[in-house]
Amino acid sequence: MEHHAHNLSFDTRCLQPPWPRDDGDPLVTPIVHSSTFHRQSVISNARHAYSRVSNPTVDALETALGRLESAPPAVSFATGLAAEAALFLTLLKPGNHVVCGRACYGGTTRLLEQVIQPLGVSVTFVDTTQIDQVRQAVTPFTKLLFIETPANPTLEVSDIRALAEIAHVQNALLAVDNTFLTAVLQQPLQLGADISVYSTTKYIDGHSSSLGGAIVTRKEDLLERIRFVRKCVGSIQSPFNAWTTLQGLKTLPLRLRRQSDTAIEIARWLRDHPHVRKVYFPGFASDVQQRVATTQRESNHNGAVVSFELVSSENGVQKFLRAIKLFALCEHVGSVESLVTHPASMTHADVARDQREAVGISDGLLRLSIGLEDVSELIADLEQAITTAASVVHTNNGEVQSCAVSG
Ligand SMILES: Cc1ncc(COP(=O)(O)O)c(C=O)c1O
Repeated sequence: MEHHAHNLSFDTRCLQPPWPRDDGDPLVTPIVHSSTFHRQSVISNARHAYSRVSNPTVDALETALGRLESAPPAVSFATGLAAEAALFLTLLKPGNHVVCGRACYGGTTRLLEQVIQPLGVSVTFVDTTQIDQVRQAVTPFTKLLFIETPANPTLEVSDIRALAEIAHVQNALLAVDNTFLTAVLQQPLQLGADISVYSTTKYIDGHSSSLGGAIVTRKEDLLERIRFVRKCVGSIQSPFNAWTTLQGLKTLPLRLRRQSDTAIEIARWLRDHPHVRKVYFPGFASDVQQRVATTQRESNHNGAVVSFELVSSENGVQKFLRAIKLFALCEHVGSVESLVTHPASMTHADVARDQREAVGISDGLLRLSIGLEDVSELIADLEQAITTAASVVHTNNGEVQSCAVSG
């Protein structure tokens, strides 16, 4: 069965049952809501014993996620950060060193700086789009190079192939947080990375109905060790959340490609807008990054996240957020609904201001997660909110309180 599934095209693989169907089996994988499993005797070879260790619904998701990258079953977690924490606890000991992209999800930075570093692991944050900086940061003590590409929220693109080579020279592993593109648009293992890391909470679930995380690797011994850490710390995904994620997976390619098509249109429209200072989108990065993006993506899509800065007046961001109607203000990406986030006060609030600003997360930066709505209606909504943000407000005595700077 697994061999058969691995030979199918990507889209078809997303719809294959996790295990061969018997006569009368349900089409949809059942949710097995049981904390424990019966044994006939103390000596038992039963597949499942206790749901902190394994569960049939979670198993089904793990098989499905592994398939997407021609890998053995993944290890699923309660959240994306639980997956990252298990990875760090599995790979790192006091005295070890990690090189991490400086433009990663704020929670990744917080986990490394405030939880892992105090355990005696040193961490260096570098611009992973600059290969020389990474080469210089890696030492004989480096065990892990952790990157996010495109990075959050400025969508810089790092070269997975080149970074894998640098990591491997020192016998370190390269892990790629592939949450934004997923295996539909980027296959890190295919490009030489050792580990793909996911917050399935985002595009894979896709409907904002569950939390989850996953680690995918072809290294069986590493999978074993990660599974052991998950059992020890108790961070497995719940059967219900695994089930909603499995349901989401069935439409992932369709959703992500359509959302990415809309994102390209919106990014181009924003780029031409006089009240927009800068648009961050993988297709608009420097020539070098554009070339890298083109050679490591699975199609001509760049994902469905677009970030931008308003030229805007004082309080422009607040005015924009009050005026926007079709984009929900949320700390999230990857839903079927369009969303907007203010990274400086939301996803990256725990990252020091200087660190934040060094990677382009200014107070004026907004991140859009493009959903499945009609593109012309999304653009009309952005237009009215940007115009409102740029509007001149007069005080009672006629003074201009804030005004738009023309683009
Ligand atoms: C790129 C990325 N990685 C990891 C995470 C953490 O995932 P979770 O919220 O499921 O813990 C997030 C969450 O926003 C994310 O955007």
